[in-house]
Amino acid sequence: CSYLQDKDRKTICEILCNGLARQEYRGYDSAGIGIDGDTPGEMFFFKEVGKVAGLRKKIAEASVDTSKTFVSQVSIAHTRWATHGPPSIVNCHPLRSDLKADFTVVHNGIVTNAAALRLVLQKRGYKFESETDTEAVAILTKYIYDSQADKRITFPDLVKTVLKELEGSFAFVFKSRHYPNEVVTARRGSPLLIGVKTEKKLKVDFVDVEFHAPEGENKGLEALAPTSPGGLLAPPSGGSNLLRTQSRAFMSEDGLPQPIEFFVASDASAIIEHTKRVLYLEDDDIAHIAEGELHIHRLRRNEGEPQVAAHRMIETLELELAEIMKGKFDHFMQKEIYEQPESVVNTMRGRVNFDNNSITLGGLRAYLPIIRRGRRIVFCACGTSYHSAIATRAIFEELTEIPVSVELASDFLDRKTPIFRDDVCVFVSQSGETADTILALRYCLERGALCVGVVNTVGSTMSRETHCGVHINAGPEIGVASTKAYTSQYIALLMIALQLSEDRMSLISRRTQIIEGLHALPGQIREVLALDKSLQEFATNDLHNQRSLLLMGRGYQYATCLEGALKIKEISYMHSEGILAGELKHGPLALIDENMPVIIVMTQDSLYPKVQSAFSQITARKAQPIVVCNEEDDAIPKGVKTIRVPKTVDCLQGILNIIPLQLLSYHLAIKNGFDVDFPRNLAKSVTTE
Ligand code: G6P
Repeated sequence: CSYLQDKDRKTICEILCNGLARQEYRGYDSAGIGIDGDTPGEMFFFKEVGKVAGLRKKIAEASVDTSKTFVSQVSIAHTRWATHGPPSIVNCHPLRSDLKADFTVVHNGIVTNAAALRLVLQKRGYKFESETDTEAVAILTKYIYDSQADKRITFPDLVKTVLKELEGSFAFVFKSRHYPNEVVTARRGSPLLIGVKTEKKLKVDFVDVEFHAPEGENKGLEALAPTSPGGLLAPPSGGSNLLRTQSRAFMSEDGLPQPIEFFVASDASAIIEHTKRVLYLEDDDIAHIAEGELHIHRLRRNEGEPQVAAHRMIETLELELAEIMKGKFDHFMQKEIYEQPESVVNTMRGRVNFDNNSITLGGLRAYLPIIRRGRRIVFCACGTSYHSAIATRAIFEELTEIPVSVELASDFLDRKTPIFRDDVCVFVSQSGETADTILALRYCLERGALCVGVVNTVGSTMSRETHCGVHINAGPEIGVASTKAYTSQYIALLMIALQLSEDRMSLISRRTQIIEGLHALPGQIREVLALDKSLQEFATNDLHNQRSLLLMGRGYQYATCLEGALKIKEISYMHSEGILAGELKHGPLALIDENMPVIIVMTQDSLYPKVQSAFSQITARKAQPIVVCNEEDDAIPKGVKTIRVPKTVDCLQGILNIIPLQLLSYHLAIKNGFDVDFPRNLAKSVTTE
């Protein structure tokens, strides 16, 4: 939305498509935009199934006047990860309330009562074009608007009334023919931020949150139609009676209004090329942008929720555009694998002092005594982040002597796991936005546990809602298959364990050994990356046309096998399974014959003899495993194919061992012609349950 700033339609489309392309990793089933048309209130839509490149082509081929300029306009865009209804043009966002597009909506998340809303609205004669939950929201908005006798309801009040009827999670942007050049955006459970671009410095760097006046407040649709038998969706009578308390124009320091543009997005990568000044919305915030002003309101769900004075700060991002570009690499995943010598250093920077072997985690310092007193530590995460917790569980227990359990966030919630005030719950997440992990976090907050975040994305929901934590500082990760975040999470978790054990005299030599190991790690990662060519050969010669691949290991390397198998299935679509070598005899051995491809991770730690015996058991059954082993290991029988990695401390070896498997999965996907950065059916940030 720009204000006092000429913009032609071509530029607007480019801004939208570039923004979508940068958010494509969040979902890429279809992409669409809705822009202002040639006459007031008119809208043009462009939609395409698949990636943003297809949408760009469609726009380029369309016969619209691209030179038409706007001083103030609102356009919306969306890239979709399908939840309700398959990827198709009709299900592609933006979704409209009717053919004239009275109301147009884009949405992330899931509205769980959409089916009920749809039924009620259909009974009242409204027609649906799509199978999406989002369309029910657009039509509900129109229905409520149409039911207003005098149509004096403001756009944010209208949206507020709509949101009170919705269950589930969402980040919405609303646009309307009835409110030209205005936009309303709101979140509950899905991330949302607003970028602010001005030429001159702003007079203030925050926006006040505006609350309803205590009396005569809007109590939602039911209150607007208190006597109607229809209940929920009965026609409201009269407008809402909100009182606005404050407004904040974006004055420059000299006190004058100035040209201003606002960008609403799910994450900063979409807008970073325009502005680094952003404001993160909280759950139940409703932001209204109109006439160069931004107002933030609250949707009060519970009676009696305190109306505390609040504001949302406009922060300056440190993110650089170059960090979210591919540079010389063919794919983001490849770039991110190759960044690991630097990303692990960034995780340790300012925190590990190699001169005196000490660790300082500023974000945890004040909470260390509470964590040490905790009766157990519960790690909670999904996907790769879960594997980083598995990988570091043993060293955590060894160094802290506190029992550690590792939970998949979805299962944790399904089980309604008992959580107590003296529990320490650690939430590990690259994005900080994974819905299951956020719900688990809120569950633990409600039960009074200390909640610690280990998160990559600064400003994300998890980094804001946890009591304390550690940013892993791996830099933006765009490839859907997580790589550098894994190694940085691994190090961050290890640093927490080291910090917690700093006062234990008996551990001095063990701690020193690990910290020295950390020091050597970036150089060793470079050595592993130099194996790339041989891994490409394994992919091409040994594995790419196999149907299945088993990865076996134990102890620290069990996590390596789980994570390696996840990488392979995510992007090369090959069935692959991480197996705890100790469980071999209890089932997996039945899969072994001369045709079953196996990778066995057999680096030299205390469990080496046990893994050797697993190796013997499978070779006795004619398997021909590829062995991940240490460079100097001469006990591997002649003729066995090996991937040789440098040796490090046992608890760090998993960092070096996963990298060849990341590269292998990359080459398998390339060899099979798959889209490495955008694997089918997956999304990087899963913001739905
Ligand atoms: C998705 C992604 C995975 C990621 C997982 C957890 O499944 O595709 O790469 O590991 O979510 O995401 P988080 O952002 O919480 O680490």
